[in-house]
Amino acid sequence: MKRVVRSTKSPARRVMRLGLIGFGSVNRALARILLERREEIARRHRLEFVVTLVASARRGALVDPKGIDLSRALETGWSEKTTTLDALSGAPLDLVFEGTPLDPKRGEPATSHVRTALARGVSVVSANKGPVAFAVRDLVALARRTGAGFRFESAVADCMPVFDLVEFALPIGRVTAFHGVLNSTSNHVLQAIARGASADQAIAEMQRQGVAEADPSHDLDGWDQAVKASILAQVLLGRPLLPDAVARTPLSRVDVGWLRATDRAGRVVRLAASGRLEGAVRVAPESFEPGDFLASLPGISLGLSLLTDLAGRINVAAIDAGVEQTAFGMLSDLIAIHHGRNTIPSPLWGDEAEHSGRRPRTAGTRPERKRRPANPARRQKDGSRKTSRPPR
Ligand SMILES: NC(=O)c1ccc[n+]([C@@H]2O[C@H](COP(=O)([O-])OP(=O)(O)OC[C@H]3O[C@@H](n4cnc5c(N)ncnc54)[C@H](OP(=O)(O)O)[C@@H]3O)[C@@H](O)[C@H]2O)c1
Repeated sequence: MKRVVRSTKSPARRVMRLGLIGFGSVNRALARILLERREEIARRHRLEFVVTLVASARRGALVDPKGIDLSRALETGWSEKTTTLDALSGAPLDLVFEGTPLDPKRGEPATSHVRTALARGVSVVSANKGPVAFAVRDLVALARRTGAGFRFESAVADCMPVFDLVEFALPIGRVTAFHGVLNSTSNHVLQAIARGASADQAIAEMQRQGVAEADPSHDLDGWDQAVKASILAQVLLGRPLLPDAVARTPLSRVDVGWLRATDRAGRVVRLAASGRLEGAVRVAPESFEPGDFLASLPGISLGLSLLTDLAGRINVAAIDAGVEQTAFGMLSDLIAIHHGRNTIPSPLWGDEAEHSGRRPRTAGTRPERKRRPANPARRQKDGSRKTSRPPR
């Protein structure tokens, strides 16, 4: 039997030029982690970095090829006239973190940010769902053409490993269905209403914690989960299904009488996202037994149950995750790209193109040498090949 040995060689030491697009809750948390963990990232992954771009809507885009003082950017900000797109077109960059707000109807301008970067061969890590939901197949194809990385672990559920999980835990086989609680705000509000509390109080609490989107209506009308369900349907199931095609029940259409009666009966209602290889992909209120995995998620926790053809059911949860965990998910994507794991495998773009980045050299996988064309000078008069073997 052939033994396949994975190379343990670590990547060459590298200095990456990083950009932060958006400087709100998530990218500010990421900036703090980058500062705190600089030494550990260098020691464990041979990765050093310099931040050459920071951009916000009100402050403009600050570019400095020599490196921006991130602590100062966090404390005092900046003021520039350059637009984000102009900066993305020309700034010296190897990778950018997309952390602008979600536009759940078109995914812009974030999709243009991602496209501009990838077209130049600049890798992108996106916490923003928009570009993934509206253009993931095109963006992965573009990244593969230019040799860039495009990853988005934080886009669906903070840092809950969904795509990393599938990449590593399912080297063979596939996901055949998903069922998840992927939005904290709507579920918190749903629980509050079930127990007789006011929806406004619950919404205010989520905003105070920085969990609710800038505009919480995206959470409450089920759009946020519909966008996530569309991403899971596309990337995990290989179904090219845009957010519009997700069947969605907004919280305002949930029957409060049913909700409270279900709660009194000891069952748990969750606004859950679900999809299979065929049939409707939906976001709808569902009632669960209290012991069910999705019902037992505490507080603002998110969870996803994946049904697979070979590995059975796999449940994964992010317990009380917040912006720091979202930022951590982006950092782990940066490190994945540094290690050559540029994109994740998906049936949407074909399994044969998995792991487009640098592959670790493995024993027993050396490609077959091409046979040299026969040298006519070595042919004998009768056309037979000369041979150095002794005649039998
Ligand atoms: N918060 C979470 O826990 C969480 C979890 C998972 C995923 N996400 C996703 O991560 C992204 C960022 O979330 P967040 O909570 O950090 O949002 P946020 O606090 O609202 O920050 C958004 C940032 O984007 C900036 N911005 C807006 N348009 C821009 C443009 N055209 N160019 C450059 N910057 C622009 C804003 O600038 P100004 O500051 O000047 O207004 C702000 O700094 C969102 O897509 C969200 O869905 C968030």
